[in-house]
Amino acid sequence: MINFKENISIGIAKAVDVDQSEIYSYIELPSDSKMGDFALPCFKLAKTLKLSPVAIAKLIQEKYKLDRNIDKVEAVNGYLNFFVNRETYIKEVISSINEKGANYGSSNEGKSKTVVIDYSSPNIAKPFHIGHLRTTVIGGALYKMYKFMGYNSIGINHIGDWGIQFGKVMAGISLWKDEYILEGTDDEIINQILKIYVRFNKEEETKPGYTDLARQWFIKLEQKDEEAVKLWSWIKEISLNNYQKVYDLLNIKFDSFNGEAFYNDKMDVIISELEDKNLLIDSQGAKVVMLDEYDMPPCIVLTSTGTTIYATRDLAAMKYRINEYKFDKLIYVVGGEQQLHFKQIFKVMELMGYEDAVKKSEHVSFGLVVGKDGQKIGTRKGNSVLLNDILNEAVNKSLKIIQDKNPALDNKEDIAKKVGVGAIIFNDLCNNRIKDEIFDWDDMLNFNGETGPYVQFMYVRTQSILKKSNIDIQSINKINYSLLKDDNTYNVIKLISNFENVLSNALNKNEPSILTRYIIDLAQAYSVFYTQCIVISEDIETTKARLLLTKYVGDIIKKGLELLGISCPEQM
Ligand code: ARG
Repeated sequence: MINFKENISIGIAKAVDVDQSEIYSYIELPSDSKMGDFALPCFKLAKTLKLSPVAIAKLIQEKYKLDRNIDKVEAVNGYLNFFVNRETYIKEVISSINEKGANYGSSNEGKSKTVVIDYSSPNIAKPFHIGHLRTTVIGGALYKMYKFMGYNSIGINHIGDWGIQFGKVMAGISLWKDEYILEGTDDEIINQILKIYVRFNKEEETKPGYTDLARQWFIKLEQKDEEAVKLWSWIKEISLNNYQKVYDLLNIKFDSFNGEAFYNDKMDVIISELEDKNLLIDSQGAKVVMLDEYDMPPCIVLTSTGTTIYATRDLAAMKYRINEYKFDKLIYVVGGEQQLHFKQIFKVMELMGYEDAVKKSEHVSFGLVVGKDGQKIGTRKGNSVLLNDILNEAVNKSLKIIQDKNPALDNKEDIAKKVGVGAIIFNDLCNNRIKDEIFDWDDMLNFNGETGPYVQFMYVRTQSILKKSNIDIQSINKINYSLLKDDNTYNVIKLISNFENVLSNALNKNEPSILTRYIIDLAQAYSVFYTQCIVISEDIETTKARLLLTKYVGDIIKKGLELLGISCPEQM
């Protein structure tokens, strides 16, 4: 495809004495087509050229040589607005779509690059609760987007399968196994385990001996006591089976489930390495790396009782990943409350001499899930809000809406699943990840808002228009580009042409919401287009051109949603 931005910057560089690549970096895409397709804010050149922005704009306008790609250059208030030749532009976009087919939007930016993404990573032995929704959904989207952009994308579920919570559950089971039915389906068992866990935490407050009991069980596990290991494996298996159902519903995949326990035999090496590098000091019986020089509390590597902790395992895991994956990027999709933890891990790794890997690593943080009142959703009186329950509720609510709107529809259950789960994912990915996510049923299931159901509905609309036309879309091979030149249609085309750019920006910032917003924009622009421009009419040439555009929009919405982890129903 002709690189219009590049050509414009070359043309400008010929008119004034400024480096072309510098000019390229200043060129913007105006949001309103009345301001042209590309714009140069001339104040950026004022210092170099020692002229006012208005004078620069005038100067360039006079000198700029128009060609068959650019129709017009306007100087407005210190801005230069470039209007491309719409027919050429449309032709370029369409031929690029035809060339790339299903890969349209992808690029080779990830070729021979590896990105490792640590996401979801729940602490098991308890059911999946809403606190792990965001990491799972954001990480899952990034995983798919990197893959699509040609990266070797590796998804790791760094499950929390080690630690004192196991001691608590095991102690609880040993105390009360006769009071709970630890048989039946995995779901039934995990719910019993949760009850035991919650009860243990509560009773521990008044019975100090319990803390010790939990610790003893955990020590047994660390010492590979047969009974403890057997119980641990059983709890782990039941938990993971239970989690897998949620992962299936959310379209989430991993390449590795190497969690914390996996690093049990890999921490000695890290500890001796820290010792060899004189980084470890004794502090009240514990072994720590001092970080006060960097305004951080010490990073504890071994506690006073000689046990390793979460941080120790993360150091071992990072080293393992450096050797195993030789990554170009390592991303941790973990909530903002662990910011200090990752700063400490990165600093310690840097002090150990892994500064190159640290430069390639990033903590991709995000806000909480809150209700409309701004209150954190998570634990209600000690009972977790279970992700499975939330997803099922979303599906049931969607089913009711669909039954009301379209009672004659086949496969309502399947559609409700796509709509309900899609609504949850879309809502999570809709805004800048660092903001808190507002969880409100009415908002996220609103078919007219900036929601999952709305964009799915627009996709369905494109498909029903295509079907209604009775024209085989594959047979349309030549269209008259000038029929797509009007503002409403051209707006849609410009958005279509921006797909790759959007994906690339989104990955640059590890921000799936850039893609989500784009899908909303595309759906809204298409909605304006099809209400203003009748797609199927007597005029066969115009019909064909508009149908083709409709197909492209449908394909991109579907692909974009798929990258976010959302499936599109064909009808709803
Ligand atoms: N299991 C941790 C939690 O639930 C998250 C782990 C994130 N990944 C990591 N490598 N630390 O809070």
